[in-house]
Amino acid sequence: MNAGFRAVQWNNHKRRYDMLLVVGILLYLTGFSLLGPLLLPSDHPVTPEIVRTRALGSCGLLMLVLILAIGPLARLDRRFLPLLYNRRHFGVATCLVALAHAWSAIDWYHGLGRLPPLVSLLFSNANYGSFLGFPFELLGLAALVILVVMAVTSHDFWLAFLTPPVWKAIHMAVYAAFGLLVLHVALGVMQAERSPIVPILLGGAVLMLGGLHIAAAGRERATDERAPTADAHGWLMVGTIDELLASLPDGQARIVVPQSGERIAVFRNGGTLSAIVNVCAHQNGPLGEGRIIDGCVTCPWHGFQFRPEDGCAPAPFTDKIATYRLKREAGAVLVDPSPLPPGTRVEPLEFGTSHG
Ligand code: HEM
Ligand code: FES
Repeated sequence: MNAGFRAVQWNNHKRRYDMLLVVGILLYLTGFSLLGPLLLPSDHPVTPEIVRTRALGSCGLLMLVLILAIGPLARLDRRFLPLLYNRRHFGVATCLVALAHAWSAIDWYHGLGRLPPLVSLLFSNANYGSFLGFPFELLGLAALVILVVMAVTSHDFWLAFLTPPVWKAIHMAVYAAFGLLVLHVALGVMQAERSPIVPILLGGAVLMLGGLHIAAAGRERATDERAPTADAHGWLMVGTIDELLASLPDGQARIVVPQSGERIAVFRNGGTLSAIVNVCAHQNGPLGEGRIIDGCVTCPWHGFQFRPEDGCAPAPFTDKIATYRLKREAGAVLVDPSPLPPGTRVEPLEFGTSHG
């Protein structure tokens, strides 16, 4: 990653996506406000403020579930990639909806007493040992803090400033936020209401997310377990020339998994092959799942581009990734698993014929 940052540009695709997002949120909130009281009957009087709080809370949680589902879905089926491209806006919108829910709850349940609302939220219930009376709102507060930190640091400036490993570690906390919210709902509204709908939906979401993550990890492991054979010098087999010609579409990559180190993406560019590291310099996106567009490998996540022959982003950008050496031997293509310094040019390997 270069010292500066490179924002993913606004474009019509993103604007359309954001509009759909806003319309979707408004439709959900309206639908919940109209149907929620009928579908989720309560033993207690349900005021419009409670309906508003519930509509916003369930909308925020649903959005979080969708965000967590997009990653594995895009791994399992490329058709979900456009959702991944805009996941950041989805995340910031989720945080705004969650903030509105928290404001609505605090205003209604803590706004009318003698104590200031935040003091009342933090200290009015200290029943930490009780299952039914547990201060479930504090679990929501902890999740909200995580969502806010993630939204505030979502800009690429923070990615460059914090470095990708730190940024990634912070953003993995989204799973902790989800866990806290499952408890927030399980110890809160599920204790107060007898309707089975909330536990069914919550359990379904947990199972669905678990299933998707296991399926995506299984797919990845299946690739990893196909350990490539190595020659006497440790170069790894990419494939035979005949087989690559027949089965590797132009502009796409074959992934090679070395025993140690990053995966290698070997791209076919017409009659030549070039090898680059599979990890994007932006946010570690899987470059090997991208395609060559306008002569550059284009990351499937946010569209950063790198030339296959030297791993450099086209001017004016300065990002660079590692490249690898390739060779032809006895009708096969092999790759040297030792990465070359980012931006090192390697002559593309001619492989258009199966002779040689
Ligand atoms: C300061 C932070 C938070 C506070 C004080 C808070 C408070 C509350 C309260 C009082 C309820 C019960 C509402 C009722 O039935 O009367 C509730 C329910 C709920 N909250 Fe939160 N919450 C917070 C954060 C969050 C966050 C960050 C999310 C998710 C993004 C969330 C999702 C939910 C959900 C899904 C429900 C159940 C809604 C339903 O009944 O359908 N909460 N919250
Ligand atoms: S462009 Fe964002 S991860 Fe590659």
